[in-house]
Amino acid sequence: MCGIVGYIGESPAAPILLDGLSKLEYRGYDSAGIAVYDGEKIQVQKAIGRLKVLSELTHDGAKMPGAAGIGHTRWATHGAPTNNNAHPHFNGDESIAVVHNGIIENYQKLKKYLEGKGYQFVSDTDTEVVAHLLDYYYKGDPIETITKVMHRVEGSYALGIMFKAHPGILYAVRKDSPLIVGHGKDGNLIASDVPAVLKYTRNVYFIQNEEIAVLSEEAISFFNVDGEEIIKEPSTIDWDINAAEKGGYEHFMLKEMYEQPQTVRDTLNPRIKEGAIVIEELGMSDEEIRGIGRIHIVACGSAYHTGVTAKYVFEGMARIPVDVDLASEFRYRNPILADNDLVIIISQSGETADSLAALREAKNRGVKTLGIVNVVGSSIAREADKVMYTWAGPEIAVATTKAYSAQLIAEYLLAIKFAQVRGEITEQDVRAYLKDLQKLPEQIEMLLGNKGKIQHFANRYISAKDVFFVGRGLDHAISMEGSLKLKEISYIHSEAYAAGELKHGTISLIEEGTLVAAVLTQEELYKKTISNIVELTSRGAFVLAVTNTGNTEIEKAADYVIYIPQTNRWFTNSLAIIPLQLFSYYVSVGKGCDVDKPRNLAKSVTVE
Ligand code: M6R
Repeated sequence: MCGIVGYIGESPAAPILLDGLSKLEYRGYDSAGIAVYDGEKIQVQKAIGRLKVLSELTHDGAKMPGAAGIGHTRWATHGAPTNNNAHPHFNGDESIAVVHNGIIENYQKLKKYLEGKGYQFVSDTDTEVVAHLLDYYYKGDPIETITKVMHRVEGSYALGIMFKAHPGILYAVRKDSPLIVGHGKDGNLIASDVPAVLKYTRNVYFIQNEEIAVLSEEAISFFNVDGEEIIKEPSTIDWDINAAEKGGYEHFMLKEMYEQPQTVRDTLNPRIKEGAIVIEELGMSDEEIRGIGRIHIVACGSAYHTGVTAKYVFEGMARIPVDVDLASEFRYRNPILADNDLVIIISQSGETADSLAALREAKNRGVKTLGIVNVVGSSIAREADKVMYTWAGPEIAVATTKAYSAQLIAEYLLAIKFAQVRGEITEQDVRAYLKDLQKLPEQIEMLLGNKGKIQHFANRYISAKDVFFVGRGLDHAISMEGSLKLKEISYIHSEAYAAGELKHGTISLIEEGTLVAAVLTQEELYKKTISNIVELTSRGAFVLAVTNTGNTEIEKAADYVIYIPQTNRWFTNSLAIIPLQLFSYYVSVGKGCDVDKPRNLAKSVTVE
């Protein structure tokens, strides 16, 4: 996710901004920029790529004199990583500069409105609407202006703002994106995260949702959304920089698991408008959607597993036949593709060699392609006919968690949209589905809050040799992901099996004490899977069951039960995965493995 730094004080601002941004590099970015008030105007310098480029362009900041400024590292969401899209963004006469982290969900509506008022946009970003909206409301009082903007924008934001007319002051405001204020000896700072300010101070204020911070060289004050002053107490930071970059979490994987509620919101909410699903980037007319003959989902690893989930959902809900292929197979198997088919390539990195080759293969055959991609401007995002971004933010741990969850959401949205357009479900069904989807973030939070119980269980299995994951239907899809998570970070052999398939061979591997994780979230298959569990326990297996709240009958068959909250049957994978991720994580930690960088694996697999 983007990084924000701001400084106002006695010292030259630019070197402090560059230094602060370098401490936020872990958040991931593809361009950077700083704005500094030089006594006459706000000067801006931007650069694509690494911060080093920006440092060179500004001679480590020396070329940008001034003691007040804001800086930004951008992880592209709306618009490719270009100079125009990099922050800071200006209003028309360059008297207001803005840096932003988050997503302005209603930016298209606001942009249209502002264009109608004569505002001209120079970037593809959602952020630029904030700069123009500030200009639109500005009548001399920055706080009044900011509160008016807060009432108009929807979504998540952390903003650093400079007004040329108020050169000795920096403004900051946040909602659902992090922002802190640092109280330094020779100046004050804002930042997305503590490491950016630790060199200058350990006294910080944590800005809460919808609070505004106003910083001058000597003073810091806070206001609420009604423009009333509020009193906040500072906190003292007593942890070191390394820990802070992980936001206090021991590993990036744990941090990213905890980011899943926000990831789900960010992928979901911008695509829900007035109770309907609007996927503008899909670029398909209703007629084209009705004409789809078959969907081919192509991906690798966990992205492939979300494709398996999507097959059940597309076929069950929209009644469209779906093939799911591993990209490494698809590219060489001479697949049968028809003109009215749709090929969906799913990839977090957007750079996976096999997935990219599969995309090119589909394009060569003249079939319409859609990428579901996390990294903006990546090869798959650029080359697919259309791209739907997952907006999960940068994922650093090799084992994917939040990108996986975001991919599921993107696929659900597509399935619901297609089902509605094809007349398979009603508007009322759509509303009910959306209601359930919007509950997922809170339900995921609840499951994450249950980590103690799973950690305790995981500690008992750190010396397991083999683990089996079983389920039927959608529960088989989630078992595949649960199994991959465990093996990739804990090096324990594990396999996922369709529960009904075990007795065709694999059950011979079950011995006294073998751990089997069984997933039972599909009510119509519940009894069938219970029978399979009984077959397993009677051969000595120890069964951990993951099932819906209320399915207490399972306690007679399984040895240990984890309940997940009720949701629509199509969306249970989004909840069942949480205890499985936590289980793998704690087994890996318990074994002392390198959780974030497991042996032999790379985050982005750019070779065949
Ligand atoms: O970047 P991609 O989504 O295309 O990557 C696909 C797989 O390499 C990836 O999901 C891999 O399986 C992960 N390590 C799983 O955690």
